[in-house]
Amino acid sequence: MKQEDNWIFALKADELDNGEKKPLLIEGNKVLVLKVGDDFFAMSNKCPHMECPLSKGTLEQYVIKCPCHDWRFDVREGKFLDAEEIRVPIYETKVMEEGVFVNLSMEGAGK
Ligand code: FES
Repeated sequence: MKQEDNWIFALKADELDNGEKKPLLIEGNKVLVLKVGDDFFAMSNKCPHMECPLSKGTLEQYVIKCPCHDWRFDVREGKFLDAEEIRVPIYETKVMEEGVFVNLSMEGAGK
C-alpha cells in the first residue's frame, strides 16, 4: 500500500482549540492528537518511561509533561527534553476538508 493511502481520519479540526489535546484509539494504537497555535500534532499516547498516558499530562506551548514523573517532551519531534535520544513516536498529520488525518505509517521528525 502506498503511504499516501494510509491517512486515517482522527477528528474534526474544530474539535480542538489551541492548547487542547485528545486521546484516540486509531487502528488499535493509542494516539494523542494535539493542537498548538494553528497546527495539529500526533504522537503515541504512551510515555516511553513507564507508559503513562500523556493525555493526562499538561501541555504548554510545544511541551507536554507526563503526569506520572514529569518527563517533558517536545510534541513536534517527540524528543525527551532531558535526553534527546529518548523519543515518543510521533506521526504526520494533515488537515483535509476540515478533518484532521493521521498517518501511522509515517513517523515524523522523531526518526
Ligand atoms: S511514565 Fe512518564 S515520566 Fe514516568
